[in-house]
Amino acid sequence: MRIIAITNQKGGVGKTTTGVNLAASLAAMQRRVLLVDLDPQGNATMGSGVDKRSLAATVYHVLLGEKQIAEVRQRAAHGGYDVLPSNRDLAGAEVELVDIEHRETRLKTALQAVAAEYDFILIDCPPALNLLTVNGLTAAQAVMIPMQCEYYALEGLSDLVGTIKRVRAHLNPELEIEGLLRTMYDPRNTLAQQVSAQLLQHFGDKVYRTVIPRNVRLAEAPSHGLPALEFDRTSKGAQAYLALAGEMLNRTEATV
Ligand SMILES: Nc1ncnc2c1ncn2[C@@H]1O[C@H](COP(=O)(O)OP(=O)(O)OP(=O)(O)O)[C@@H](O)[C@H]1O
Ligand SMILES: [Mg+2]
Repeated sequence: MRIIAITNQKGGVGKTTTGVNLAASLAAMQRRVLLVDLDPQGNATMGSGVDKRSLAATVYHVLLGEKQIAEVRQRAAHGGYDVLPSNRDLAGAEVELVDIEHRETRLKTALQAVAAEYDFILIDCPPALNLLTVNGLTAAQAVMIPMQCEYYALEGLSDLVGTIKRVRAHLNPELEIEGLLRTMYDPRNTLAQQVSAQLLQHFGDKVYRTVIPRNVRLAEAPSHGLPALEFDRTSKGAQAYLALAGEMLNRTEATV
């Protein structure tokens, strides 16, 4: 079982798209997957075909210790994986958790009860380096960092690496960087090519060989509550996430 936090404090870089489509791709490869929506926006929840407005309980209640994950998780409408859903309730958690004991390890502790039921637990983090993200990083064995190859991408990366180092020092010494994922990639864009080259230079093998192209099917699928694999299996986006799942399995299963 492997727990991976999908994190980047920069908004709109493809974290949720990666969470949903990687979950569906790993499930298509017969892996048992739980997707944890740790963002009050609830995008991973909606993108999995679960209505965030009609939830009796969410990951918020899990973090506060009011519910067990087994009582809250739901099956994605399509895609063959489970979702621990979220909605705006979670926006209050940041404040409410501050006074609670072990506030950084709430998710980690809760996941222990269900970890044996899954091969992969993917955590979709919010676009912030806040207590929710720290809960994700503390629960995870590794971090996956989706990024757009833009001018400020590398700058943002050093803040994130700083946070990862602090979490390692205080809360989770084993935390690794699983990989950096180039998202919404346009190979004709020369700036994207340059940033991509710098990324490879700095992070080498930590950069996934698989690149996620900009693909309209990936943007359309969530409004149908579907992973791209279910919406348009042959699309370049769906195929790229299948390739990413394959690359991840090759990497992790080769080293264990
Ligand atoms: N490869 C892609 N091609 C085209 N559109 C994409 C791609 N990846 C993501 N998108 C679109 O870009 C937007 C942002 O993506 P997404 O929600 O996955 O990012 P995010 O990092 O989770 O955002 P946030 O920080 O707000 O949580 C969405 O509208 C999504 O549909
Ligand atoms: Mg998101």
